Amino acid sequence: MCGIVGAIADRDVVPVLIEGLKRLEYRGYDSAGIAVVDGNEVRRVRRTGRVTEMEAAAGAEGFAAGLGIGHTRWATHGGVTELNAHPHISHGVALVHNGIIENHEEQRARLSALGYAFESQTDTEVIAHLIHHHLKNGDGSEPGPDLLAAVQRAVKELDGAYALAVVSRKEPERIVCARMGCPLLIGLGERENFVASDVSAIVQATRRVIFLEEGDTAEVTRDGVRVFGDDGARVEREEHLSDVSLASLELGPYRHFMQKEIHEQPRALGDTIEAVMDTGAFGPTLFGANAEEVLADVESVQILACGTSYYAGSVARYWIESIAGLPCSVEIASEYRYRTAVANPNQLIVTISQSGETLDTMEALKYAKSLGQMRTLSICNVPESAIPRASRLAYYTRAGAEIGVASTKAFTTQLVALFTLTATLAKLRGRLPEDQEAGYIDALRHLPGSVQHALNLEPQITAWAERFAPRQHALFLGRGVHYPIALEGALKLKEISYIHAEAYPAGELKHGPLALVDADMPVVVIAPKDSLLEKVKSNMQEVRARGGELFVFTDQDSNFGESEGVHVIRTPRHVGVLSPIVHTIPVQLLAYHTALARGTDVDKPRNLAKSVTVE
Ligand code: AGP
Repeated sequence: MCGIVGAIADRDVVPVLIEGLKRLEYRGYDSAGIAVVDGNEVRRVRRTGRVTEMEAAAGAEGFAAGLGIGHTRWATHGGVTELNAHPHISHGVALVHNGIIENHEEQRARLSALGYAFESQTDTEVIAHLIHHHLKNGDGSEPGPDLLAAVQRAVKELDGAYALAVVSRKEPERIVCARMGCPLLIGLGERENFVASDVSAIVQATRRVIFLEEGDTAEVTRDGVRVFGDDGARVEREEHLSDVSLASLELGPYRHFMQKEIHEQPRALGDTIEAVMDTGAFGPTLFGANAEEVLADVESVQILACGTSYYAGSVARYWIESIAGLPCSVEIASEYRYRTAVANPNQLIVTISQSGETLDTMEALKYAKSLGQMRTLSICNVPESAIPRASRLAYYTRAGAEIGVASTKAFTTQLVALFTLTATLAKLRGRLPEDQEAGYIDALRHLPGSVQHALNLEPQITAWAERFAPRQHALFLGRGVHYPIALEGALKLKEISYIHAEAYPAGELKHGPLALVDADMPVVVIAPKDSLLEKVKSNMQEVRARGGELFVFTDQDSNFGESEGVHVIRTPRHVGVLSPIVHTIPVQLLAYHTALARGTDVDKPRNLAKSVTVE
């Protein structure tokens, strides 16, 4: 969703801002803008649509300056218009904002009464006026407090979430920032410094970063950074070296990021299981220093997540109950956060989020903690993001930056992280004999190779995709641990190709969805050789008997043949318990090639954003 970049340097920062905004495009946005402090004037350009349109306008107007801020906006309060786009300006104070201000109506009324005129429908404009209000003395005269003090006062009057970068024409030597509930980091350069909501926005300039904490404010000049805690006192925040590389943000030889990310999975899985391979064993130390304290004597597991991450949790439920012998529930975070849950302090709360920023998942975690559930573990792909920081334990998947809105490598790496958690819980409970542990480690070691074999099926799957492209609907079926893979396949297809797709446990077909089946309804079946294969075959007969066309993904070990109306693609030999991971690859490829054939915007599907930081 929204993105922030800011820079102060001896050079012209406009190219830095534009490049940063382009690198934030993947998050999803509908308008973009920059403001620069040029002499003692603030100049601003905003456009709806793509960053390139705003870039052209900035070029035409000759924008160049050593200090500036930029923003990509995903509309929440107020429509997609230039007036609603950021930066917002109040009397020479310009700011960009991520998040939502909950008391904006009350503040708007108060500021209007003080004489401020509003030109937008946004909650953000309120902050600009509020900061300007605090720049004045009690008698309304200027100069009053400086920009840092004014921002610090203003944010105390805001309810809600914000990451802010603020500049003022009267203080052309600094950017002031503030963070509460939305990520914000500072990039450190040589006599130049940066502000960003996401490290990818500044990685072309520096990988040295400081992550602001909740309630922090900061002053960023060319020569340094001063950070202040919630109480206004100076604090030191550790410097990190980000491992996000420029290569991971560039397409290389691929046509889309989604295609690149699908093909990166053998590497991503290999990196994510590296720690297990290095130790040659499962154990709590894989989850952090104090993990044993959190994981020992756990009585049950509650998984909270959204979208694809929720489906990863749904696979894990089968593993955790059957392998670790622990009761496990999986719930969509946006539901859990608003219901009355029964607390159990010995329950492990597992949040799963690729971005680590998803608001519903974050709020579900906060709600669980408010119930006294303090055994919290986050599985996340973005180090230092909000959700792992709010959790006692964090397990980072090492998928690398995922740019395509459709989650692919993040999902399969979440699955190996969840499998590692399952085996660790089983071991702590004395349910993992040595030979079984060795077998699991071996299966993980061979996983990247099996995934590569599945990727080699791309030409066959592309041929299927041509047949899916003209369809309006599709049904996905699976059973047991492969049912969530059917769900994930249906989500991928609808998300990027806009074909309506539903997934069902195959046994549920006769309880309703069978009524949809006719010659126009392609039915995709995930049917590996597991204990439910014969049951799935019966369900497929039910489809064939109604004239439905079957597209079956099975593995080499099943004795499954093609016949009229039954098309089969074979994944590699059955890989046992990790089979759902291997069977994810063909459904990803099917969605990708179907979308390609339909000519949709694969990496930026309509109406969707990469990081869903609003309700
Ligand atoms: C996946 O393809 C989706 N774009 C979406 O469902 C996503 O998984 C969901 O929004 C959760 O995101 P998170 O993993 O970053 O929390």
